[in-house]
Amino acid sequence: MARTLAAGWSEGDEVVVTRLDHDANIRPWVQAAERAGVTVRRADFDPATGELTADHIRAQLSDRTRLVAVTAASNLIGTMPPVAEIARLVHEAGALLYVDGVHHTAHAPVDVRVLGADFFVCSPYKFLGPHHGVLAASPELLETLRPDKLLPSSDAVPERFELGTLPYELLAGTRAAVDVLAGLGGPADGGRRTRLGAAYEAIGAHEARLRARLEEGLAALDGVTVHSRAARRTPTLLLTFDGRSTEDAYRFLAGRNVHAPSGHFYALEASRHLGLGDTGGLRVGLACYTSDEDVDRLLDGLGDFLKQTPAAH
Ligand SMILES: Cc1ncc(COP(=O)(O)O)c(C=O)c1O
Repeated sequence: MARTLAAGWSEGDEVVVTRLDHDANIRPWVQAAERAGVTVRRADFDPATGELTADHIRAQLSDRTRLVAVTAASNLIGTMPPVAEIARLVHEAGALLYVDGVHHTAHAPVDVRVLGADFFVCSPYKFLGPHHGVLAASPELLETLRPDKLLPSSDAVPERFELGTLPYELLAGTRAAVDVLAGLGGPADGGRRTRLGAAYEAIGAHEARLRARLEEGLAALDGVTVHSRAARRTPTLLLTFDGRSTEDAYRFLAGRNVHAPSGHFYALEASRHLGLGDTGGLRVGLACYTSDEDVDRLLDGLGDFLKQTPAAH
């Protein structure tokens, strides 16, 4: 999509990316901009609060802005920027908004029109489905775009963008995953969309309760810094430890049957902006299938790790 959109850019145009995003929603724009002679502007986020506000985006907009790429939720620290507010600014500037919903979609319901996204992408494997890519955009907008394609393949929308024989088994798997999700709100009347709404309410409540339990437990441990601080965020916490490596913590926890990996998780610019360089931190993610026992096992494991690992000074 970056290549396709860049075909309509001219020298002197600008695109805006953020330092909060996964590299998947930065590098394709940077590379397409380089090829097209277009300027890339970077919206910061506040490393102290983890917040990316509409003002951070506003500061980078100009009458040459063609596209703004922003995440609906950070996969590193969970921050959920105010996408609908950002969409209004971006559209006032006459630009398009490309929203990365890969992390968001596992935790919060999506209404692309309410978000105001011109493009919204997500990856079903993040919400119990198989590995393939999903892009939502209005047929009218897609009609204006001309991706490279084979001559005999359909020029209709959306087939124009769906190259080759479709992965039917993945499409069936994604549909089945959405049905599983829609059932998590318990028996409810109404169509799939209504049931999904109830399910996400239940998922949100479950994750919020576990997050409170986790944050309370972490606050009682000495030497832990929690970098996830935004007011609106998913239950994804990034931690570092005074004088101890997060890689050692990851290995220690793995021995206790806790999967909490260490790294930057491809949100490389965000990790650097947080002052964590290319090392990143220990990421703890809660999901609809996480239990109270899982949270307690993690907290016990971390407590033991901190006791048993002397801090280097
Ligand atoms: C926010 C975000 N964007 C993009 C990606 C990349 O998605 P995919 O693995 O489907 O390429 C990820 C994967 O972790 C992600 O969390």
